Order: sequence, then C-alpha cells, then structure tokens
Amino acid sequence: SAKWETLGRRLREIAPEIDGDGLIIGANRRVADDPHLALISIRLPDSSWVNVGLVAWSPPVPAGHGTLLSTTLMALGAIVISLMLVRWLTGPLTGFLTASRHLYRGKSAVLVPESGPREVRELAVAFNDMQRRIVRLIDDRTQALAAVSHDLKTPITRLRFRVEDVADLGARAAIAADLDEMERMLDQTLAFLRGDRADEEIRPVDIFAILGTITDDASDRGLAVSLAGSANANVPGRRLALKRAFGNLIENAVKYGHCAEVQVDDRPDQVVVSVRDYGPGIAPEQVHRALAPFVRLEPSRNQKTGGFGLGLTIAHAIIEGHEGSLSLHNHVDGGLIATVRLPKLPPSA
Ligand SMILES: Nc1ncnc2c1ncn2[C@@H]1O[C@H](COP(=O)(O)OP(=O)(O)OP(=O)(O)O)[C@@H](O)[C@H]1O
Ligand SMILES: [Mg+2]
Repeated sequence: SAKWETLGRRLREIAPEIDGDGLIIGANRRVADDPHLALISIRLPDSSWVNVGLVAWSPPVPAGHGTLLSTTLMALGAIVISLMLVRWLTGPLTGFLTASRHLYRGKSAVLVPESGPREVRELAVAFNDMQRRIVRLIDDRTQALAAVSHDLKTPITRLRFRVEDVADLGARAAIAADLDEMERMLDQTLAFLRGDRADEEIRPVDIFAILGTITDDASDRGLAVSLAGSANANVPGRRLALKRAFGNLIENAVKYGHCAEVQVDDRPDQVVVSVRDYGPGIAPEQVHRALAPFVRLEPSRNQKTGGFGLGLTIAHAIIEGHEGSLSLHNHVDGGLIATVRLPKLPPSA
C-alpha cells in the first residue's frame, strides 16, 4: 500500500547502502490481513536476511473536553450516590450511639427512629424494645427499694418511742445507737436512689468555688483540708451533684487518710481535680469493689466511721453522668489519690 511505499522510500533515504532488491516491505499476509501489520526484510552485506515484523499503532485520539466533562460528572455522581448510600446506611447508627449513651447515664430512653434499610429498621425496633424494658426494670427496682426504705422508717420511729420503756440504761443506749445507724442507712439509700435521677439543670459551674465551700466547711470543723490550683475552672454541669461527688471524695480522704489535699488543674479541654490523702490507700485489685454500692473495704475498720459504702458509688455515678472519669490510685509515698476529670464540652443530650 501507499503507506508501506512511503516507509520504504524514507528507509532508502536514511540508508542508501541498502541496494534495490535488498529491502522488501509489505503487508504480512501470512499472519493476517491486517493493514497495521507489515513485514520488513533487509538483506545484509553477507547475503543473509533480517526479517522484522512491524505493527503500526494508531495514535490515541486525545479526549475532547466533552468526554472529560462527562466522565468527571459521572464520577462525581457515583461519589455523591455512594455518600448518600453510606449516610442512609450508617445514619441511623449514630442515633443508636446517642440513645445508648443517654440510657447509660441513667436518663430516660431515647427512642431511635425505626426507619432506613430493613436490617437497620429491625435492629431499631429491637433496640427500642430493649430500652423500654431496661427503663421499666430500673424504675420497678428503684421504686421497690425506695418503698421498702421509706416504709422501714415508720417502725424505726415506733421503736424509738418503745425503747424509752427499757429499764436497763446500757441496753437502751445501745438500741438507740443501732436505731440511729439504721435510720442513717435508710436516709443514704433514699438519697442514693433519688440522686441517680436528680434532674438538675446543666449550667456553667465553677469547680474551684465548689471545692472552696467544701474545704472551708471542713476546715471550720477542724479537719486538715487544703485547696490549691487554678481558680475559675469552669465546666458545664450540675452544681449540687458535683458538690456531692467532691464532698464524698474529700470526706473519704479525711476519714481514711487523716487529711485531704485538693488540687485543681484547669486544662484547655478539661478540668482535673485530684484529692490526695496520707492513709492506707486502696489495693489496686480492690478499687473495683470500692466503687460498688454498699461495699466497705475492711468493715471492721469502718464500723466506727459509720459509712455504708455508698460515697464512692455516688461520686462515680455523678462524674460519669458528666461524661467525666474518676480514677483511684495509690501514691508511691502512700495514700490514695482520687483523680476526677471533667470535660469542658457540654454533655451531649
Ligand atoms: N481515701 C481512702 N483511703 C482508703 N480507703 C478508702 C478511701 N476512700 C474509700 N476507701 C475505702 O473504700 C470503701 C468504700 O468507700 P465509700 O466512700 O463508697 O464508702 P464509705 O466511706 O465506707 O461509706 P459512705 O461514704 O457511704 O459513708 C470504704 O469503706 C473504704 O474502705
Ligand atoms: Mg465514703
């Protein structure tokens, strides 16, 4: 064809030493009838031939703007659709997270929307059902415990009158002391049950100021309590609840560790409060138990101090309710350090 003749002419121009019949160029009919395939044979000076197969590639056609645009649009469309799909699939899952956090913090159930893909919808129905059951269970138990605690106060009050008739003065005093203890136990239990459900408003709370009132109070009662660190450390929270939590920690430090050193550290994202004492501390394997309700480590030691093992439980619950953390560890030089971290971000609803 004309194409191959042009090629032959060019080759002879470049290499004039190849003589007339020493160069054969033609379509390679033995391989295929493809116009892109050619066979070139060149005779070398020693009369041997070199055969070369040639493939003519058609140069790629540069993509016009139209193609580029439509390809880009298609890709964008695919991305948008995938994002929407991902949102559709995972969107409801965020609701599950919020709801479970909410429930965990002892609040009411937040029902998740029963929509989305079928599997998610079924999960939502089951999840909501579970939430309702848990809330009902907690309510029933709380109510039963509160009712018993409350009703026990009446017979205790009656016993208090009857004890006046006991002739033996020693026995009378002992019974009265026992009744006092029973009453205090009931009061604490009721406070514990109520405290869990207290619906105090969340507003900015000055942690240093709260600790100031607690430590001033303790100092006035002749207790060795000190406060140091950053003033004006604010977090969003429930004032009375937080006061109670810190009060319990400081009370423990004084009760078991002779004194309390309170330190406030105002950090960019959180306020860290540590309460340190110089007592026996808590063995690391006992920390978990100490946080459980109605657990007193070494009851013999605590009998005199009259605790019911609720102080740490309540403090822990309140701090977790603020999405903070309470950790207990022993100082290398002895004594317990209770560390409270409270985030500055408002607790999510
Ligand atoms: N600072 C501390 N040093 C050593 N042991 C502690 C300290 N704080 C708490 N404990 C131990 O952990 C137990 C549980 O503490 P918690 O405050 O929950 O209960 P409590 O002090 O016994 O009673 P309550 O606080 O209800 O009056 C305590 O009985 C005590 O044995
Ligand atoms: Mg206590």
